[in-house]
Amino acid sequence: MKPAIRVAVTGAAGNITYSILFKIAAGEMLGPDQPVILQLLEIPQAMNALRGVAMELEDCAYPLLQEINIYDNPEEGFKGAQYALLVGARPRGPGMERKDLLEANAAIFSVQGKAINDHANPDVRVLVVGNPANTNALIACRNAPDLSPTQFTAMTRLDHQRAQGILGNVLGANAKDVKGVIIWGNHSATQYPDLHNVHIHGKPALDSVDQAWYKDKFIPLIQQRGAAVIKARGASSAASAAQSAINHMRDWALGTGDDWVSMSIPSDGSYGIETGIMYSFPVRCNYGRYEIVQGLEINDFSMSKMLATQKELLEEKSAIEHLLPSETDARMADPFGRAGAGEVAEIDDECLRAGSQIVKTDRVC
Ligand code: NAD
Ligand code: LMR
Repeated sequence: MKPAIRVAVTGAAGNITYSILFKIAAGEMLGPDQPVILQLLEIPQAMNALRGVAMELEDCAYPLLQEINIYDNPEEGFKGAQYALLVGARPRGPGMERKDLLEANAAIFSVQGKAINDHANPDVRVLVVGNPANTNALIACRNAPDLSPTQFTAMTRLDHQRAQGILGNVLGANAKDVKGVIIWGNHSATQYPDLHNVHIHGKPALDSVDQAWYKDKFIPLIQQRGAAVIKARGASSAASAAQSAINHMRDWALGTGDDWVSMSIPSDGSYGIETGIMYSFPVRCNYGRYEIVQGLEINDFSMSKMLATQKELLEEKSAIEHLLPSETDARMADPFGRAGAGEVAEIDDECLRAGSQIVKTDRVC
């Protein structure tokens, strides 16, 4: 049997985690033969509810779940964690934008970034789900001086899957056959769901839809989907967010297969996007690493949308600048540590899956 992997999850008595934890324990995140140890974090007032969740996990008798530990402080909660899912944060209500949560949630992520830096496994992989996810991830990352910025990511996988699901539905295709979706930028109403590279059974999707529908209906639909769910449910999306978080981590750990996915990661300047922010790009994952898909054609329409969402991220960043220690500023300009890395090694051919665009280690974390 493989040694167990430590997975820390914050907000563990909340709505999203009520789906996430059971999926992790069932092997949906790290594989059906990978034992896990769950390290569940909450605020002190929620510890009783968390005990109840832990009891339910125990009652499922999952063969892969080796230990369940609960904590009310990040220093102990992140100890030795190899994966960390930062979900704990306040959700928005009707009429709010996600960036309205910046003030309420930002402080959580500077504390957690420091605790991850000091106590987690040095190879920890971090996913931020709590909103505003991109900027919270930036705060956590910038407060972890001993880790690589590339160890921190934020979730735009839900937006990616929304685009796959809704477009598939409109065109009568299975969501899994909708390949090549890209979410650029922020997990917010400025995100750009780009269909220019989408193919369904080899046929370009944009040949099958009206351009005006794509620009005036589809893009706003994806941008506003979170708000629409809040309006309909009276609470923000939970099960779909949980599924996306599991898929994000599973692909990062185990590989993306024959499609790419959208992940918010530290910008390295690809596609002219400024460094210093967490921006959603198309990526492929392989061997526990991710790489930005390069060489895609970007037309003027796409570029203007990509810059609009970049502008919002830069504004969010300036609102929380006081939470970003200056000592970690410079490395964000070169998040993959290429400058001074010397010669770029090629990955052995045998390491490459057929069709993979991952060709060099210089774009891989
Ligand atoms: P929720 O209110 O049901 O649960 C949040 C939990 O976090 C609560 O139990 C709370 O006690 C806990 N918490 C708060 N501060 C904490 C801290 N410092 N340490 C540990 N736990 C803490 O909310 P939810 O519906 O589960 O949503 C959680 C977050 O995820 C929200 O910010 C929401 O907006 C965001 N979200 C993001 C996406 C995405 O795609 N990125 C999707 C859905 C929701
Ligand atoms: C979502 O996209 O569903 C989440 O970010 C919750 C929200 O506030 O919209």
